[in-house]
Amino acid sequence: MTVSLQSSSRINKLQLKNRLVLAPMQQHQGTPDGHATDYHIRHYGQRAADVGLVLIESTAVSSEGRLYQDDIGIYSDSHIKPLNQVVKAVHDKDARVFIQLSHGGRKSKLLPGERLLAPSALAFNDEYGLPFEANDEELERIIDAYRKAALRSREAGFDGIELHAAHGYLLHQFLSPISNRRNDAFGGSENRRLQFVLQVAIAVREAVGPDYPVQIRLSATDYNSAGLFPQQVADIFNKLEPLLDAVHVSSGGLTPERPLDVHPGYQIPYAAILKSTTALPVIAVGGIHTKALAERVIAEKLADFIAIGRPMLEDPDFARRLLSKQPLPIQSVT
Ligand SMILES: Cc1cc2nc3c(=O)[nH]c(=O)nc-3n(C[C@H](O)[C@H](O)[C@H](O)COP(=O)(O)O)c2cc1C
Repeated sequence: MTVSLQSSSRINKLQLKNRLVLAPMQQHQGTPDGHATDYHIRHYGQRAADVGLVLIESTAVSSEGRLYQDDIGIYSDSHIKPLNQVVKAVHDKDARVFIQLSHGGRKSKLLPGERLLAPSALAFNDEYGLPFEANDEELERIIDAYRKAALRSREAGFDGIELHAAHGYLLHQFLSPISNRRNDAFGGSENRRLQFVLQVAIAVREAVGPDYPVQIRLSATDYNSAGLFPQQVADIFNKLEPLLDAVHVSSGGLTPERPLDVHPGYQIPYAAILKSTTALPVIAVGGIHTKALAERVIAEKLADFIAIGRPMLEDPDFARRLLSKQPLPIQSVT
């Protein structure tokens, strides 16, 4: 059977109507205490109609883990109701919706009195400043925050969870030898660097049960010879696999260095490496903005789903146009 962008597929037992995914993108429209607003209901509702899956933006599991102070969060029961309205807006358009759970670690923007926590006391840059090395009690508290956030996500009606372990945020900081210089149960070897993410994945899985979709977003490379590289990240995912249902393959963010060559589809080879080592669904992302490229990735089995980011911000109907291959209407110049 030929598989195309329009073919339905599954993540865990959840049926998705096609292979297009709205990539998670922060909207910087949260209230000061992290609540979603009418903006989010409208924004996600407008972009849901033609994708199988909406991934809503990075949503903090604790206030001190917000990536920006205008991010949304799910660290209090009061966050559930407005998020439930976002879920309903997406469901009304016959799409499914996952929440992206995150903690910024050393790349968090704090409120006064909050502590910048990371695996090791190593700064990302001068702007964020020097973090504290999180102690066992703080790590336990963060794992518990993920557990509670997972329960609230399910209560809010989300169809699944994406754990944000990419782009240099807390979970990625634990995985990478550049940011994790601990010499305890959570660092010192590749296996021990995996332990914190493993504990988070176990806590989330125990909270939501076996049938609820839980996937992870990973950076396949740190673009630094001292950091993670794709085959290693594939091995990491293989160890997490029994707890997860899919992987979303991005790259970078651990250090201020950026990839030298960002061409359309530049992360597809990383998705393909993950795809060759797992039977679970793989989501590719990054400059996959034409039907031809997206179809090729699916047909050649380099990935199972295609996430689209920036064009969906500018044009809420981008997915429909991509699927129908209609060119953008020519704007009349008056
Ligand atoms: C405005 C903006 C906000 C973003 N916010 C997030 C986020 O909250 N979580 C995340 O994992 N990636 C985030 N990203 C990265 C996107 O999910 C995506 O990986 C990236 O834009 C590349 O895909 P594209 O070329 O289709 O835009 C963001 C990107 C943009 C442009």
